[in-house]
Amino acid sequence: MTARTPVHVPEDEMRAQHLCEARVAAMSDRPQTYHVVTYGCQMNAHDSEKLAGMLEAMGLTAAPRREEADFVIFNTCCVRDNAERRALGNVTWLKEIRKLRPEMMIAVCGCMIQEPGMAERILKQYPFVDLAFGTANLHRFPSLLERVLTEHVRVVSVEGDDLIAERVPVRRLRREAAYLTIMYGCDNFCSYCIVPYVRGRERSRRMDDILREAEALRDTGVQEIMLLGQNVNSYRGEDGADFPSLLREIDRLGIRRIRFMTSHPKDLSDGLIAAMAECGHVLPQFHLPVQAGNDEILRRMNRRYTRAQYLDRVRRLREAVPGIGLTTDIIVGFPGETEEQFQDTLSLVDEVGYDSAFTFIYSPRTGTAAAKMPDQVPAEVSAERIQRLIALQEKRQREAMARFVGQTEEVLVEGLSRRSGDAVSGKGGHGISITFPGNGADVGRVIPVRVTGQKNNTLTAERLEAEK
Ligand code: 5AD
Ligand code: SF4
Repeated sequence: MTARTPVHVPEDEMRAQHLCEARVAAMSDRPQTYHVVTYGCQMNAHDSEKLAGMLEAMGLTAAPRREEADFVIFNTCCVRDNAERRALGNVTWLKEIRKLRPEMMIAVCGCMIQEPGMAERILKQYPFVDLAFGTANLHRFPSLLERVLTEHVRVVSVEGDDLIAERVPVRRLRREAAYLTIMYGCDNFCSYCIVPYVRGRERSRRMDDILREAEALRDTGVQEIMLLGQNVNSYRGEDGADFPSLLREIDRLGIRRIRFMTSHPKDLSDGLIAAMAECGHVLPQFHLPVQAGNDEILRRMNRRYTRAQYLDRVRRLREAVPGIGLTTDIIVGFPGETEEQFQDTLSLVDEVGYDSAFTFIYSPRTGTAAAKMPDQVPAEVSAERIQRLIALQEKRQREAMARFVGQTEEVLVEGLSRRSGDAVSGKGGHGISITFPGNGADVGRVIPVRVTGQKNNTLTAERLEAEK
């Protein structure tokens, strides 16, 4: 197999952006505080950490509430229509706040801006938006903002060349767990999905850059890293290195816990399954979106695997990593989906017994192949199907989670439990939320527990280490 040629933003362009940051920081009349509003997936959450990093390099400090910030930026998602509507609704709501605080600046960025025609629409319909830019231009944010501030013009920037930008400052939201992007974009063109159009072609970071970033995170005491990519397992480094070899290299760095998402079933190789089994720090969990359980629907979704192939991979994963936590994404109401075909999705969910599933009603996205397919499923039919799917998944999830009762788990504590003041919660190694007695001193630490029971979607446990 030939290595893909990675393309990086030239060093001097990144230096120019860093100089912009310094110039904006020195401006006396720049905004003083910022607030980032994030929609969508982990990739977007991590992009927001980069936006915050750049804003802090420009001298701004975080405001806890958007109403109080001098500069509010919406990092949008467009994977489904409701994500888009929610973002635009909130932008409009902020317009009212700005009437009270006319100096407030508003920017919109992210996947939605990358959609054809959207930038022009924003300009026309949202005259109070000062700046709009797409994911392809994320690293140019400092120079775009500098233009708005010095030339007092509205700036829109969508064209970009799908380049990888290294050395963008990052302001991480959590100290103990960190996102680390290994590849960008998607070449799969699932027929329902807009991501390949807005996030561009697949490109992988250099293995060296990834390893240096992982080491730096380890040295700051990060307990867990989540490797990110629209298709993490089609990672291909400069010298042809594949995802299993990258995983093995990262495993050697001694970071306590390693997770990754999202994987495509067609790229789930035996090599990756072996690496999962052998790498001591890679957690026993796997997010493996199936989307549908019927072969004809899978074919029309352009998923490039059959139900039998998917189930075979699940079986091999479970053999190699007994008890592995399995999660998935499922779409109901894909164009032309019949009741019988939907029944195949139900039977697959019943057969696999996922630990959790993200279920979505199909949402037509302009420009995708599926949006032009005949027999779009009526909304009420999809709504009824998703209810049945959720009910089955909840039942199977309860049954699947019972395997943990009596077992020990290590929990990376995220915070105090929302329901009880003297309990904490976090994720166990299998990816399931676990709540147990504890206090603020546990946050950010990995605590061994024994699972004692289950409650809704979480497990309850007792500590195997005394409280501090
Ligand atoms: N409609 C509904 N769900 C979608 N997804 C992607 N595109 C669409 C769409 N057009 C879901 C898939 C994917 C997850 C991130 O979002 O299940 O895995
Ligand atoms: Fe979308 Fe398919 Fe690419 Fe995932 S693999 S981002 S669902 S096109």
